[in-house]
Amino acid sequence: MLYNFDEIIDRKDTNAVKVERCKALFGTEEVLPLWVADMDFRTPDFILTAIRRRLEHPILGYTVPPANFYPIMQKWITDHHNWDVKCEWIGFLPGIVPGLAFAVQSLTEEGDEIIVQPPVYYPFFHVVQNNHRTLVYNQLKEENGKYVMDFEDLEQKFTAKTRLLILCNPHNPGGRVWTRKELEQFAAVCEKHQVTIISDEIHADMVLPGNGVHTPLATVSEWAENNTVTFMAPTKVFNMPGLISSEYIIPNAKLRHRFAEFLEASEMNSGNIFAYIGAVAAYESGEEWRVQMLDYVKANIDFVKDYLEKNIPQIVAMIPEASFLVWLNCKDLGMETDELHKFFSLEAGLGLNKGTVFGPGGEYHLRLNVACARKVLEQAMKQLKDAVEKIVGSR
Ligand SMILES: Cc1ncc(COP(=O)(O)O)c(C=O)c1O
Repeated sequence: MLYNFDEIIDRKDTNAVKVERCKALFGTEEVLPLWVADMDFRTPDFILTAIRRRLEHPILGYTVPPANFYPIMQKWITDHHNWDVKCEWIGFLPGIVPGLAFAVQSLTEEGDEIIVQPPVYYPFFHVVQNNHRTLVYNQLKEENGKYVMDFEDLEQKFTAKTRLLILCNPHNPGGRVWTRKELEQFAAVCEKHQVTIISDEIHADMVLPGNGVHTPLATVSEWAENNTVTFMAPTKVFNMPGLISSEYIIPNAKLRHRFAEFLEASEMNSGNIFAYIGAVAAYESGEEWRVQMLDYVKANIDFVKDYLEKNIPQIVAMIPEASFLVWLNCKDLGMETDELHKFFSLEAGLGLNKGTVFGPGGEYHLRLNVACARKVLEQAMKQLKDAVEKIVGSR
């Protein structure tokens, strides 16, 4: 079956964050919204059909996970990520960002230090700071147009108060698919300091063609398997984040019980009817759609790269190895980050994420979401070119 990613779907009046928050974030509703990380593609029909089928029954009562829920996850992870997980290691998680907060709350104390690697997905900062833990930055370095980890700096960041590291694997916003070698080195440093790792692997199923495979951090060593809390989800890759359905995988029984007990005590260990149904449908029927979606996204990324090189050389795209987010370095436009963001919003009519929100290293950057129909992206690039030509012409 051939899926259609060219369809343009109006998301107005659906309470979509991407649309509803434009005025607040960009100062106008008149932008092409290419920011928050959901896709403008139709949520695949095998998921919508499974939900509709359930709606044919007239009672939406309290619900347990379907019997095949954990076995299907186990199979998906084993087949896709070469990780021989056991069913009992896996648990339902009502969202990965909430999961990060639960991990911080259950595995650390107020005042403890938690290391993150900016520029990185900004809720990593919020879950630390809003829970009164201390944020420690191990900033990524840029080498040959890609982010790499700064292990020398990392070594310096451990203190007697370090309790946790939060890893983004693959990385958002840089799109790195960390190699096994990089992850082995990362795990070895953490092992030396005996610090637990939270590995957020929500982008694991979106490695773009030609970029190798995703490596779960927990597979790089026995120590890593025993000291990593891994989060995965079908929501990002199958465009159903509104269902709030993700999973944790914790092989170490002691660590797992500590985390699971916290979830249970907070009554946060179960999902709603559609969270379960969506996950099962995605993992059962999603492979063909996933592969085609990634091909389409890859072609969108190539289009943006090509367009910028030919028409707007002042903007340089970091080419992602995974997922649908393109990190744009706009330093050569000669504006500070706030001014840049305003320029994109008000002059180019584009709603993109401001780089500084992702922490140190985000200066002069914006994050572009390319999970949209090619026509929309063509329009966006044209608007950007026209706006840049105006300022360049006036200088
Ligand atoms: C690295 C990362 N983690 C988590 C999330 C969101 O997870 P959830 O919607 O399950 O809270 C995102 C969404 O962009 C993300 O990029």
